[in-house]
This record gives sequence, C-alpha cells and structure tokens, in this order.
Amino acid sequence: MNHFQRKRGVLHAEAVPVEELARAYGTPLYVYSTATLTRHWKVLHRSLAGLDHLVCYAVKANSNLAVLSLFARLGSGFDIVSGGELYRVLKAGGHPGKVVFSGVGKRDDEVAFALESGVKVLNVESAPELARISIVARRMGLRAPVALRVNPDVDPKTHPYISTGLSENKFGVSVDEARRLYALAAQDPALEVRGVACHIGSQITTVRPFLDAIARVLSLVKDLGKQGIRLGHVDVGGGLGITYADEEPPHPDEYGRAIKKALSRFDGEVMLEPGRVLVGNAGVLVTRVLHVKESGRKVFVVVDAAMNDLVRPSYYDAHHEIEPAGAPRKDAEEIVCDVVGPICESSDFLARKRRMPRPVRGDLLVVRSAGAYGFAMSSNYNSRPRAAEVLVDGDGARLARRRETYADLVRGETPEPEAERFRT
Ligand code: LLP
Repeated sequence: MNHFQRKRGVLHAEAVPVEELARAYGTPLYVYSTATLTRHWKVLHRSLAGLDHLVCYAVKANSNLAVLSLFARLGSGFDIVSGGELYRVLKAGGHPGKVVFSGVGKRDDEVAFALESGVKVLNVESAPELARISIVARRMGLRAPVALRVNPDVDPKTHPYISTGLSENKFGVSVDEARRLYALAAQDPALEVRGVACHIGSQITTVRPFLDAIARVLSLVKDLGKQGIRLGHVDVGGGLGITYADEEPPHPDEYGRAIKKALSRFDGEVMLEPGRVLVGNAGVLVTRVLHVKESGRKVFVVVDAAMNDLVRPSYYDAHHEIEPAGAPRKDAEEIVCDVVGPICESSDFLARKRRMPRPVRGDLLVVRSAGAYGFAMSSNYNSRPRAAEVLVDGDGARLARRRETYADLVRGETPEPEAERFRT
C-alpha cells in the first residue's frame, strides 16, 4: 500500500497533486511520501512484535537525510556500508549504538570512525578483514564489536547482479570458515564477538530462501554454543522484494511471521537490514516530455530524466511502471514506445516497448517505485546536475535536497591544477 493515488484522474502524492510539485520544484524530481515511509517501517517493525528485534534500515537504498531522520525518529537502526553512510546517519540524528557496518572492503579510517562513534557491530566478511579490524581496535585501545557475515550458499532466485548469498559471490565467509574465525576472534582481546549476520540477495519474492539461510545460520549458532561461544544476535539481512510490475512478494506480515517462527528458539536479538521494502514504493521520479520522436516504425518519448537519474532500467533491465501525472487525455491513441533520456548512450532508457497513451511535449510522466536505488545510484554523467528530492507530508511538501546547479558540478575542480603540485 502506498500513498500515490489518483483522485479525479490526477495523480497525487498524499494530498498534493504531483503536477503542482513539478511546477514548484521543476523536473526531473524525486518525490517521497512520509505516510508511506512511516507505514512501511511500522508494518515491518510490528510484524516482529514479541521478538527482541531491531530493524536496521539499509541506508544504501535511499540515503537522503530527511528519509534517515524520519526513520531515526521512529526508532530505527541503520545498516551502513561506508564511512559516508555513517556520517549521514549521525547527521540525521541516528543512534550510533543501533548501527551495523556491513561490506567487504572497509578502510582503516572507516573502521576507526565506526569504532570511535560507538557502532553496535561490524559485520566482518573475511579472515584478512577480521585481522585488520583487530589491529585498528588495538591501536585505539578499544574492543571492536564483531559479527561474521556468513554466506549460507542459498539461491535467492533473483537477478544475478543482486544475488549475494551463493558461494560464487564475493560476500561473506562459508559456514566452515566462520567456525574457524569465531574461534580466533573469541581469543582476541581486541575483538568482542557479538553475533552472526547473513544477507542472501535483493528483490527476493518468496520466503523460502530466507528460511533456508536462517536454518543454516542457526545450526552454526548451535555448534558454536557447544564450544562455549555464545552469539547474542542473528542478523538476517535485507532482501525482501516489492511489486514493480506483477511480482507478488510476501507481505511483510507474512515475512515477519516466518522469521519469528524460524527464530523462535533462538535466545537473543534478531536484526533485519531492509532497504527496498521500506522505501521502494514510497518514491516516484517525475519527468517532463521533451519530444515525441518518430523514427521509422519506432516511437521514442524523449524525457528530461535519464539513466544518470535512474539507472535501474539500463543496468538491470528493471521494469518501472510509467504513467501520466495528469488526468488521461480522452482522445489520446495508445502507442508502443521507448521512453528515453537525453544521454548519449543507447542504454539510456527508462522503459522499452511500453504501451501508453501518446503524450505530447510538456506532459509530465511519473516513474513508479523509484524510492529505492533511484537517487542513491544517480550520477552526474553527461554533466547533468542531479535532480531535486522532495518529501511530501499530508497536504504539504518540503525540499529534501535542492536541485544541483552548474556550479555544483565543478565544485572541487580547478581549471589549472598547479598549486601544491605533488612531486616524487
Ligand atoms: N544488507 C546488505 C548487506 C546488503 O548488501 C543490502 C543490499 C541490503 C541489506 C538491503 O537489501 P534490500 O532490502 O534493499 O534488498 N542496486 C540494486 C540493489 C542492490 C542491493 C545491494 N545490497 C537494485 O537497484 O536493485
């Protein structure tokens, strides 16, 4: 359920017509709904009621400060993968004691930043990383709270680029390797073993792979317990899918029930790292039609948003619904078209072979389900200033990130890089 609905034919974000937002803030424009973000977070949180748990929102999905601050106020924890994400969480008022730091390649300065900030746990993904974290912690005179990210070798049946829990993927350590590393970590005075983590992939649309992964992780927890290594938490990662077109992922209630059941005998805290399911359908990308170009039998609808604004269609061949923001024009013929941006790449498209009412120049189109991995993956390619982001709340909206200017594009650059030249 999301709060982007048509009223008298006109698409609204909560109580605000999307066309008015485009008039006020320009296009391309990301629009997020406070009510939807709040609802999604609460539904997931409540689905685990009765279980000692912490929802750690995966910041990478949408790292706008306004979004982070909203989740922080709801009591959310955060899953981060870089020093930059930690900086954002702290800026947004997130609690460092509710932060888990994931990722295969943390630099020393990032580990140090996390330790001095007092994060809850670092998810460790390899033997050399464990050794390195120990060195950094010892230097700082601290004990680093760690969990091992186990790769349970289950197939999440999702796009290969976003599947992470197979032994062929770069993420985590095998269950056998984890046994060996826990024994090492338990002996190391600079490390404090806290728990275990896994994450098997993204946009997963059945509960089964999650349950398979949990079963494998729990058997490891049990074995370690016998060796006297007690794990205080199990982090089941993120990955729950959403509906982009006709997918039917489990409702968060069903997912929560299944997780509760699978972990009912675990005596400790359960953590989740959801990204997409919280923010995906809470955001849209609004774009204006520049031209309708006919080329042979093909029709290209050229819009002012491009792959630098939303890369998912080009990168993963992902489907995003596209619809007019205004009331459908009665006399418009149905066409089949490619919706493309102005970037000089053939892969710059938002949709291909899409059926829609023929738009005209100046019309506004809305790209749905763009709240996750939308702005967060955007770039300045072709020297395009990045889009503005607004957060709607009821009948009002706030600018959450102003549109970039040409001056922003060259910030930090200099035409004559000569002062303080580096010499060997
Ligand atoms: N935890 C870890 C360790 C992760 O690597 C990820 C996502 C998540 C949590 C959150 O997963 P989610 O609940 O959002 O599925 N750019 C791709 C998705 C990449 C996901 C990477 N890791 C896309 O646009 O589909």
